[in-house]
Order: sequence, then structure tokens, then C-alpha cells
Amino acid sequence: MKDSKDFAEKEISRRALLCGFGAIAAAAGFSLDSASAAVGVTKVAGGKFSVDLTANKVLAKVGGAVLFTAKDGSPAALVRTAAGSKGLTAISLVCTHMGVTVAESQGKWICPAHGSLYALNGAVLGGPASTPLKKYPVTVTASKAIIG
Ligand code: FES
Repeated sequence: MKDSKDFAEKEISRRALLCGFGAIAAAAGFSLDSASAAVGVTKVAGGKFSVDLTANKVLAKVGGAVLFTAKDGSPAALVRTAAGSKGLTAISLVCTHMGVTVAESQGKWICPAHGSLYALNGAVLGGPASTPLKKYPVTVTASKAIIG
């Protein structure tokens, strides 16, 4: 009986969390859309990742983002924050408050746990988090971004 009670409590807790996030998102005017998974991702020397920029057309436009798994296993995103070869930023999507994965919504990253809000480049816009999202080094060639 204890197992079913534990399960019920966890399920209620999960629902409360999701409802709470929905309320926060609605109040803040966010929709819960999300960036799509990167295509053309290959592992290269040194455990780095190569992302084919020609296969991820969303990265041609400022505000575009694709998702991938970083070298350290963290959910991560490659984001177009400005035009040109220096305008790609790779960030961990692990919230710096308590480690919950953030989600993209209308050009920002929001944490479903306690509502921390980050700019597309990972800078903190609202707490409780006070530290920006972790960044990974990015080197851009003519057609690829090398991350790691
Ligand atoms: S874990 Fe993200 S705001 Fe608390």
C-alpha cells in the first residue's frame, strides 16, 4: 500500500508542478513551444561536436536555436544571437538554480521548476537563478559549428 501511496503523492506533485509552470507561463505571456533537435550533429576529435549549419537553417536567423546533447551529457542548445561567425552561442540548458532543464519560449529560456528566466544567450533575466547558463566554446567554419 505504501508504494501506491508514494506513487499517488508523486503523481500529484508532478501535476502540481506542471500546473504551476503553466500558470507562470500563462501569466508571463509565454507559449510552450520549443526549439527543435539539431540535425547533422557528429562527434569529432576531442569529444567535441560538429553541427552542420547548412542543415539547420533556423540558425541563419537571429533568435534561432537547435538542441543537442553536450559533451558533458547536459541538454544544450546552439543559438544564433547575432549575425556573423561570432554570433553563435552554445549553452547548457541546465538551470543554474537547482539543475532543472529549461525550455525555450518566445526567444527566452524559462525554468519550469521555479520560473527563472534567461535570455537566449543564457544571461539571467529573472531569478531565483543568479548565475547565467553555462556556455560551451564554439568555433565556426564556413558550414559547421564545432562545440566543446
Ligand atoms: S531549478 Fe530552475 S528556477 Fe529553480
